[in-house]
Amino acid sequence: MNFENILVEQANEIATITINRPKKLNALNKATIEELHQAFDTLNKEVNTKVILLTGSGEKAFVAGADISEFAHFSEAEGGKLAAKGQELLFDFVENLSTPVIALINGFALGGGLELAMACHFRIASDNAKMGLPETSLGVIPGYGGTQRLPQLVGKGRALELIMTAGMISADEAKASGLVNHVVTLEELLPLGQKLASKILRNSSVAIGKAIKAVNSGYKDGENGYASEINAFGECFGTEDFKEGTTAFLEKRKPDFPNK
Ligand code: COA
Repeated sequence: MNFENILVEQANEIATITINRPKKLNALNKATIEELHQAFDTLNKEVNTKVILLTGSGEKAFVAGADISEFAHFSEAEGGKLAAKGQELLFDFVENLSTPVIALINGFALGGGLELAMACHFRIASDNAKMGLPETSLGVIPGYGGTQRLPQLVGKGRALELIMTAGMISADEAKASGLVNHVVTLEELLPLGQKLASKILRNSSVAIGKAIKAVNSGYKDGENGYASEINAFGECFGTEDFKEGTTAFLEKRKPDFPNK
């Protein structure tokens, strides 16, 4: 895959996407969002990609937000369209992928950058990372799902404080509030991402895809998470992975999942 704004590498069933606009602190312009959509879509369909890591290039930023220069002159209608298109192409898209996506937050994750990290299935951060939703300081609100996903992750009060103050929190504060799962040095960030990915690789990718769907279902209007779970649980019994997983346990050996 050849892109202008992102890099995609693949090794041992783990793909790493690096947002690569370091001079603009990896800000998400339209072209980058489209390229990310294409990369995620392609990797999700590839059978030999089981986990996707997402990070930013350079040592300063994961993503410093949506590219302000692209929308500063937008009308109301264009603003609405920007949010809707972005959510469809990238933020909702990533959250609903059946392939697990881990955000490796290697610096500033602000506005759309934090929203992108929050759309990933979970997050780890380097100790230099700073996170926030500064949109109200620009006269706008988070439009890529931030008003929904931040309260889900940290609770309504903490989310509103961060949104209304437009402030930034440190990696340790983010960990204490449940926004990120682990904090390590910048050097340790990719190795930890790879280690967690390797643990995920040992398990059934079919079951993992169904687990993501069941968890997400609980946060969707008009869906019943418990009913979705029952459905997905039942479906697992018809998979080759289930047969292999249970047979391997009973035979006291490690499973070799066909991922079907
Ligand atoms: N959109 C467009 N360009 C951005 C950007 C964004 N969200 N964030 C950073 N950049 C650009 C800067 O304009 C600058 O470009 P230039 O060198 O051509 O002038 C370059 O990236 C470096 O940023 P700079 O502001 O000089 O770095 P800094 O270390 O002084 O400050 C930040 C870092 C993250 C605090 C600051 O860049 C910032 O506040 N960015 C905007 C964050 C934001 O509001 N995001 C939400 C958008 S909805």
